[in-house]
Amino acid sequence: MFKIILCNDPVFSIRNHPGKIEWRGNASKDTLETLIAIIKSGKNAAIAYAEHLFNNEVEALNLFEVILKSEADITFYCKELNLPPVLIRYAVVESESATIENFNKEVESLPFCEETRKNIKENLKGFPFSRISQILKNISGFDDKKAVETILESKRNLLRQNEILEVVHIDDGIDQIGGLNELKKWIVERKGNFSKEARDFGIPTPKGMLMLGVQGCGKSLTCKVTANIWSFPLVRLDFINLFRKGRSVEELLKEAITTIEGFAPVVLWIDEIEKALSQDTEGSEIRRVLGWLMTWMQEKTEPVFLVATANKVSVLPPELLRKGRFDEIFFVDLPSKTEREEIFKIHLEKRSRLPQDFDIPKLAADTENFSGAEIEQIVVDALITAYSKKLQLTQKIVEEVVRRSVPLSVTYEENIKELRIWSRNRARNASGNRRIESLFGK
Ligand SMILES: Nc1ncnc2c1ncn2[C@@H]1O[C@H](COP(=O)(O)OP(=O)(O)OP(=O)(O)O)[C@@H](O)[C@H]1O
Ligand SMILES: [Mg+2]
Repeated sequence: MFKIILCNDPVFSIRNHPGKIEWRGNASKDTLETLIAIIKSGKNAAIAYAEHLFNNEVEALNLFEVILKSEADITFYCKELNLPPVLIRYAVVESESATIENFNKEVESLPFCEETRKNIKENLKGFPFSRISQILKNISGFDDKKAVETILESKRNLLRQNEILEVVHIDDGIDQIGGLNELKKWIVERKGNFSKEARDFGIPTPKGMLMLGVQGCGKSLTCKVTANIWSFPLVRLDFINLFRKGRSVEELLKEAITTIEGFAPVVLWIDEIEKALSQDTEGSEIRRVLGWLMTWMQEKTEPVFLVATANKVSVLPPELLRKGRFDEIFFVDLPSKTEREEIFKIHLEKRSRLPQDFDIPKLAADTENFSGAEIEQIVVDALITAYSKKLQLTQKIVEEVVRRSVPLSVTYEENIKELRIWSRNRARNASGNRRIESLFGK
């Protein structure tokens, strides 16, 4: 008999079959020959990932002839019904319903407390089935904490294998962001919103946010802090490289999203989304992919929170900015005077200097139109100057550095103006203070 079984993890499904053949890499010819030899000898055979086996229809026909002459039971295990039509026509096609729940019993028998077992079950999602038994065996001798740690580390490794995803290390907490009070409040308020209790209360699962804004004003920093506040891992999707890998962009993205969903709860970060858009030389490909991403964001059920950032609005497609796509669109402007004071304090303290030793209001007043990143750079440059002169860091040295620095906003005046005008009625101000005062007279 000739059967095709559709399943999630073909290697897992053939694990107990005596005549199993695993598809390995690109050895299509060898695998096919081995399979033919087994069939000719009259033994039963099961092959995983059979959809990768054939280079052309002729190979499929040759194999089919051998199968017809044989008494053996031949079973193909595939993830998709992507086989030459001749085989599909003559095979019995079934689908296997192996789910992660199949492993519940194995997890229940582990010597951990109830909560750890629940945590393990949650975190097994996303692993290929063929690896789960091995993982469970590995952790069975550990204590509760190490068992969970080990699974999480295996998960991170799983993600590292993906070409366009990267796990981002986070150090920064909410106290590292100066200003942006409205944005911070919004994030803190949503901390528990991914739980079942929140769902029962009637709160929809948060989808994502878009941060538009001026360079160096804390967008990337806020992404990290969001993940930190929610205790979620932060994973960056390399949106530009997605288009450079030479593989089907949709296929790569779908593969990445499947991996990410297995990793949930997670904050998924797409940085500087407009960079990919401005490189769009092949017409509408990026827009199509963005459309797909937006649809996924609306329909997803897993707790994956998408954070996208952009410095320019003119290149962003309107459908991305339409109300209801993201939970919120924030505009991150240059810091106000009070915000600059906070930023100076943060960066002085970060380098073990006491803010009370400095005239912070004066420094903030002298750095109008400077971004957070530029204020940080002023502190660093002042430290370098002091160190080279073998002096302690003083107000005078910082003021000298301020005097010789020119903020980038001078160069990007037009771009900032455009952002402000666009954001006025369409985005929420991340600082909360609807500042009417405008730097460039508008
Ligand atoms: N509001 C802020 N409070 C404290 N530090 C800040 C703030 N904004 C920027 N910084 C400092 O500047 C660094 C760079 O900022 P960040 O990368 O977050 O800016 P960005 O808005 O993502 O800029 P870009 O558009 O260039 O990517 C931060 O790591 C932080 O040290
Ligand atoms: Mg950034």
